[in-house]
Amino acid sequence: MRELYIAGNWKMNYKPGEAAVFAKQIADAVKNLKVKVMIAPPFVCLPAVTEAVKGSNVIVAAQNVNDHASGAYTGEISCDMLKDIGVNTVIVGHSERRQYYGETNEFINKKVLFAIENEMDVILCVGETLEERDSGRLEKVLADQINIGLSGVSENQMEKITVAYEPVWAIGTGKTATPSDADSAHAYIRSLIAEKFGKTVAENTIIQYGGSVKPANAKELMACSNIDGALVGGASLTLEPFLSIINASKK
Ligand code: PGA
Repeated sequence: MRELYIAGNWKMNYKPGEAAVFAKQIADAVKNLKVKVMIAPPFVCLPAVTEAVKGSNVIVAAQNVNDHASGAYTGEISCDMLKDIGVNTVIVGHSERRQYYGETNEFINKKVLFAIENEMDVILCVGETLEERDSGRLEKVLADQINIGLSGVSENQMEKITVAYEPVWAIGTGKTATPSDADSAHAYIRSLIAEKFGKTVAENTIIQYGGSVKPANAKELMACSNIDGALVGGASLTLEPFLSIINASKK
């Protein structure tokens, strides 16, 4: 039975002080809930946020990580640095990193491998653009993102991996995939994981949906059999919508 996993990707929002206050409000609000909850603030907020949620069941994640241990990589952050401040989860391959910073499947794969070798949990983001969907390339794009992104990952290491299906055209646009479109993309991703790692691994892998998830659509999306949670952007930036998505998600 897969656990429900709701994650908030704060992107480039909040300064450390306000992030800590908000994180504490989330931690207090979810303390008796069974849902797995994660928040991913910007790097500079991570120390304050990890401190603010200490002892709670809220997971704190980074939005990105470098694929090397240390060295001359100006502007980058390593797994060791994150782990040292108590951050053991990282989002890899978000579409904004693919789109604005040229991250390829091969590069994303290096980050995935490096992060799991360093015992971190990874949320691997995949998803097609509207042009890719409209030109009939949805399956090919997802297959490349999964097969290349998870290349070299062992069956055992798959327990460190969560996949987030985020159709690019639904991110921050207010457009959401219909529950049945999303569910069929999730089912396809699960079949790719089954081909690569076997049926048991596929059945155990959490696949989150992302792209304009909000209180009004969360329940319907989470009710789909292949959707195991959400990676939420805009609606995770304030307490009320984020909590109502968490609450709506209980199956
Ligand atoms: P959104 O972002 O909820 O604002 O569409 C989702 C994401 O990018 O993870």
